[in-house]
Amino acid sequence: MTPFTTIAWDAEHRAVRMLDQTRLPNDLVYETYRDYRELASAITHLKVRGAPAIGVAAALGVVLGIQDSRARDYPAFTAELDEVIRVLGATRPTAVNLFWALNRMRAVAERSRTRSIPDIQTGLLNEALAILEEDRAVCRKIGEYGADLINDGQTVLTHCNAGALATAGAGTALAVIYQAHADGKGVRVFADETRPVLQGARLTAWELMQAGIDVTLICDNMAAQVMKEGKIDCIMVGADRIAANGDVANKIGTYGVAVLAQAHHIPFYVAAPFSTIDLSIPTGAGIPIEERNPVEVTNGFGKPTAPDGVKVYNPAFDVTPARLVSGIITERGIARTPYAESLASLAREEKRG
Ligand code: MRU
Repeated sequence: MTPFTTIAWDAEHRAVRMLDQTRLPNDLVYETYRDYRELASAITHLKVRGAPAIGVAAALGVVLGIQDSRARDYPAFTAELDEVIRVLGATRPTAVNLFWALNRMRAVAERSRTRSIPDIQTGLLNEALAILEEDRAVCRKIGEYGADLINDGQTVLTHCNAGALATAGAGTALAVIYQAHADGKGVRVFADETRPVLQGARLTAWELMQAGIDVTLICDNMAAQVMKEGKIDCIMVGADRIAANGDVANKIGTYGVAVLAQAHHIPFYVAAPFSTIDLSIPTGAGIPIEERNPVEVTNGFGKPTAPDGVKVYNPAFDVTPARLVSGIITERGIARTPYAESLASLAREEKRG
């Protein structure tokens, strides 16, 4: 277990408790949210981030938004619910887990429309808690499937943070590392620092060190050299949205890592829950890419590092084409190319199950 909790429901205070990730690695500060608008702002400002954690936060945000509702009938209640979902849904466009979680919450309300308002509120709380608990179990399964891909003594390069800080459980890409470590494989990690906001340096390096895992931090522009030096056995990253054909949106820079991995004949794996797979989008071209504040690029280290007024382009994610992906590790198993078929088949399996 990690020595920190990324996100939790505080039943006593009917509030959400989250670790403020913008303060890491220097300060371990928890914040308590009672207002869904403040929680939405925390998502926008990366206090909580990582696709699965954003989904969990949004579901709990819905609970905050409707738990004190004074609506007397379903139409009035659902109008409030729609507004809460609209605000939470406007925070970050790329991570599909956000919309997946909000859709689950809306569906619960619709299914129980003939019930009393307190019953619907209880149903929504239970659904949000189920989303949180399921995420823990999903991370465990991803870790188990993925660890089979790692041999004794291997070194894995990762980009951004797809760890416990990005989920309610052990993470996705890092769950694989944690499981391999627990299996005694002596796994080592190279972490890209992940400009512009340094999730790799601030978060991945920190959480792996907390877990006692051998981690080496590199700047993003060092990845090619460490691969050429033969230091990397495989790449393991997370995802924010995966299209039906296996194209993968993840933190900006992931595509570059995948191209480098192919050039050096190193397998490139993506670990993600099924909730990150968006079968409604045929290819990565349809995935909306968030553009963030230029300040992240010009003042990324807490002080200006570029001339005032310079033009900046700051896409937060890129799309790695499926042909560069060696496998997609999900809680239902590992999908391999051709992804249109393997992902659809895993989707059908769940429906049958
Ligand atoms: O902008 P962020 O920090 O939310 O981006 C996070 C990532 O890109 C992660 O790799 C992805 O969400 C997977 S987290 C399990």
